[in-house]
Amino acid sequence: MDLHNIRESYNFDSLDTDKVNKDPMVQFQNWFEEYKVLSIKDYNAMAVSTVNAGLPESRIVLLKEIRDEGFVFYTNYASAKGKALAENPNISALFFWREQERQVRISGRVEKLAPKQSKEYFETRPYLSQIGAAASEQSAPIESREALESKFNAFTEQYPEGSAVPMPESWGGYIIRPVKYEFWQGREGRLHDRLIFLKVENAWTISRIQP
Ligand SMILES: Cc1cc2nc3c(=O)[nH]c(=O)nc-3n(C[C@H](O)[C@H](O)[C@H](O)COP(=O)(O)O)c2cc1C
Repeated sequence: MDLHNIRESYNFDSLDTDKVNKDPMVQFQNWFEEYKVLSIKDYNAMAVSTVNAGLPESRIVLLKEIRDEGFVFYTNYASAKGKALAENPNISALFFWREQERQVRISGRVEKLAPKQSKEYFETRPYLSQIGAAASEQSAPIESREALESKFNAFTEQYPEGSAVPMPESWGGYIIRPVKYEFWQGREGRLHDRLIFLKVENAWTISRIQP
């Protein structure tokens, strides 16, 4: 398939060091708020990439909390990403906000949330999401769809709606503590704006790089 002729031009906005917030987390939140109001399905989706001794792997997860110190998502600690992060806690998170011609790249390290915090969130999840998390050994092979459904059904029988579904021990949140951000704003003629924030001795430096 030849996709050579797909071309877009970008002119929604611009970005410069005098315009950007000096705190990248605030800048992130400013852009996130502007995207959020568009009410696009899964507007809180981000691609997170991990590397261990094997190949790099990326997958979409949902950003569930923005804290002063970082970005929270929830998953299964025994999943492929969980295993990779146990070996190497370095992670990249990527946001693509097409409508505003923006991309934000974040690099940092993860830490697990305290189980109590994960549990608090788990208990707010809809019943079927709780059952799904409890019934699925995320990323482990299973012989068939039927086997998966019967596992799920066994959990719904054991924990009918209205009962407390226990949070699996292997389930919980990670917080990504950023050390680097890149804010990318598409511009005319491929002269895109790219600003890098780097954490150096607890302060953020800002620099511009070429598109
Ligand atoms: C829109 C969307 C949202 C998702 N949200 C999550 C999430 O919050 N947590 C999660 O573990 N997986 C989520 N997934 C599934 C992951 O992309 C992935 O399939 C799963 O986490 C297993 O990844 P792994 O085998 O690399 O560990 C989501 C997928 C999509 C497409």
